[in-house]
Amino acid sequence: MARQKKCGWNLRWLAILLQTFLLAQCAASRWQKIHQNEEDDEIYYPPVQLHDFEDHIVLDNGILNVTLSTPEGMITKITYNGIHNLLEQEYNENNRGYWDLVWSSPDHPTDIFDKLDGTNLFVIREDEDQVEVSFVRTWDSSQTGLLPLNIDKRFIMLRGCPGFYSYAIFERLQGWPDLHMSQGRIVFKLQQNLFEYMAISDDRQRVMPTSEDRNRSQVLDYPEAVLLTNPTNAFLRGEVDDKYQYSSDNKDSQVHGWIAADPPTGFWIITPSNEFKTAGPLKQDLTSHAGPIALSMFFSTHYAGVPLVLDFRGGEPWKKVFGPVFVYLNSVSPGEDPLALWPDAKEQMMMETKQWPYDFPMSEDFPPAKQRGRVSGRLLVRDRYMSERLMTASSAYIGVARPGDPGSWQRENKGYQFWSQCDALGYFRINNIRAGNYSLYAWLPGIIGDYKYNIQINIKPGSKIRLRNVVYDPPRDGPTLWEIGIPDRSAAEFYVPDPNPTLLNQLYTVQPDKFRQYGLWDRYTDLYPDQDLVYSVESSIYQTDWYFAHVNRNIGNKTYVPTTWRILFNLTDVDTSANYTLRLALASANDAELQVRINGEEGEAPCFTTGLIGKDNAIARHGIHGLYWLYSVCIGGSVLQSSTNIILLTQSRGSSPWKGIMYDYIRLEGPSSNTQT
Ligand SMILES: *[C@@H]1O[C@H](CO)[C@@H](O)[C@H](O)[C@H]1NC(C)=O
Ligand SMILES: *[C@@H]1O[C@H](CO)[C@@H](O)[C@H](O)[C@H]1NC(C)=O
Ligand SMILES: *[C@@H]1O[C@H](CO)[C@@H](O)[C@H](O)[C@H]1NC(C)=O
Ligand SMILES: *[C@@H]1O[C@H](CO)[C@@H](O)[C@H](O)[C@H]1NC(C)=O
Ligand SMILES: *[C@@H]1O[C@H](CO)[C@@H](O)[C@H](O)[C@H]1NC(C)=O
Ligand SMILES: *[C@@H]1O[C@H](CO)[C@@H](O)[C@H](O)[C@H]1NC(C)=O
Repeated sequence: MARQKKCGWNLRWLAILLQTFLLAQCAASRWQKIHQNEEDDEIYYPPVQLHDFEDHIVLDNGILNVTLSTPEGMITKITYNGIHNLLEQEYNENNRGYWDLVWSSPDHPTDIFDKLDGTNLFVIREDEDQVEVSFVRTWDSSQTGLLPLNIDKRFIMLRGCPGFYSYAIFERLQGWPDLHMSQGRIVFKLQQNLFEYMAISDDRQRVMPTSEDRNRSQVLDYPEAVLLTNPTNAFLRGEVDDKYQYSSDNKDSQVHGWIAADPPTGFWIITPSNEFKTAGPLKQDLTSHAGPIALSMFFSTHYAGVPLVLDFRGGEPWKKVFGPVFVYLNSVSPGEDPLALWPDAKEQMMMETKQWPYDFPMSEDFPPAKQRGRVSGRLLVRDRYMSERLMTASSAYIGVARPGDPGSWQRENKGYQFWSQCDALGYFRINNIRAGNYSLYAWLPGIIGDYKYNIQINIKPGSKIRLRNVVYDPPRDGPTLWEIGIPDRSAAEFYVPDPNPTLLNQLYTVQPDKFRQYGLWDRYTDLYPDQDLVYSVESSIYQTDWYFAHVNRNIGNKTYVPTTWRILFNLTDVDTSANYTLRLALASANDAELQVRINGEEGEAPCFTTGLIGKDNAIARHGIHGLYWLYSVCIGGSVLQSSTNIILLTQSRGSSPWKGIMYDYIRLEGPSSNTQT
């Protein structure tokens, strides 16, 4: 019975995909109508109600019902659009919708998964416009072996609003035991027979395999990646599925979720601000993936490694609010195009973002707009070898985070971060900053390195700090003799190969997403079977001749050996008494060591080494970047020749396909000209 239904859906999705192109116009006008209606005062929305039962409560606003177990605060049921439960009813009540956290401590060095069960329920607000409930668990020193953290999980339902909000406050008091936390998130496991179509962005959306399909498949080099050998939807046969293929930078991940075809229903996680996420706008994380699962990842070590473990020692106190995030539900009438639910979800995301910071969360730990401050100004760049004049920092990323060194924001994991982007002329405004002390940081595509404003920023409620012009002096010693790539903290501009045709994800066969394919680490050996990559600055083109990842060579029998890449370049009139500078910007590093030799042999001592660096695992997880590293290597003119020179780049740590680096950008600078032009 169920099988038969699936087959029908198969055709249905194909038909829908065709329809989308034809009906895009109709869909748009329908959504306009709905949004006009929303502003129409005459629409009556029933009051929000809180129904209290023996072991659960129900939040009910007439549009949807959300059932929460008491006192644990697990989301056990979401009733909407005539569907009894959007969550997977087959799973235990504590395995459908929940907050969780992964932690360890000196006494418990192995990771513990904690679903943060509440022990007490408090009704914070209950009136016709809003219900807010709080599930609390309080730690005390008699609870040895338990997570030393106070938990306050909140759920909010508003009148007339098709969804619900959730946030949490985590707190440690002074003197509490040592603690390491490596992951915190909300998980939703949706009904498997309903949700087949996943959408992460305009270009990244597709029919997904079921978890049963994954069970009946061949596990590839790690358990998350499988080859679908016998999927229910025959057209998925032979494809790879891996949740890490659906990761996004946090800056690009403000809405994602799932669509059911019958009845046409959308389930979306909307993140209206990234202020509570760790490590800045470039932090990557999981979004939605086969299951069907939708996640809101608040912090994790994904694409970064150990630096993003929250580490509390010496009784350090801490308190942080995560969220609110919004679970948005939408629907169209049966027979209408369900794929129209994606643009509607995007529109809703824009609306939520505009409303940030929300004025309705009741916790006093969530400050409203008037208790926040802002910083504005203009960022300029001074690099006399690029331009005689100051340059505008067009589209620079600029933000405030805990005080630290330049670039420390990408490893910062306990505070709040507030980011904005400069306009075309370099003007910026960072709004809605919580009160506190911060450093102002920036970086911009096209320029190496990290900017930090030299004075600490102290935000008080209502602060409006105007900095006027601030100037970034990026690392620079002399004129560019040659360069490879674009300095933008990503390896995306380099050569990304086609995957092995037997290991395809059909979603990613074209740029710019080809790097998300499985197994590209082994394609290097296919393309360079005998000799490693050689790049001539005169005749090579980085888009086609520079492999996107410096990986190990597969010599068979699961054996991987280090590789050495060569850059050939000519110099004339070398000043043997002067210094030259090699800038090495890395977009990723994993258990790697990059050694540099100039006009030497592989066996010689390197003139520079990074030492063992990185744990971001971006090669295995199909990222095009992990954390950013910038090295400057001083080269005495005496080792260079007024003819052909060779730089040898060796990634010396073999033994695994996933140890390696990605380059962001390489530049050789000549000696300082010392003459102001
Ligand atoms: C929510 O629950 C109430 C009480 O059981 C019920 O009357 C109502 O129809 C439900 N609403 C939805 C949207 O399912
Ligand atoms: C898939 O396998 C896991 C582990 O054996 C099992 O718990 C789960 O129920 C299976 N899921 C399906 C849909 O078959
Ligand atoms: C901010 O820094 C100032 C001095 O630099 C200090 O007096 C103040 O206590 C700090 N405020 C916070 C909230 O840390
Ligand atoms: C492959 O590696 C294993 C374990 O290192 C070794 O025992 C075996 O002889 C190797 N096979 C070949 C063909 O080299
Ligand atoms: C160096 O210059 C010579 C002579 O012009 C030329 O043949 C050679 O290709 C150049 N090599 C590189 C790496 O640019
Ligand atoms: C070149 O660098 C070396 C080592 O840093 C330094 O001692 C020397 O003074 C520099 N030479 C010039 C001409 O700047």
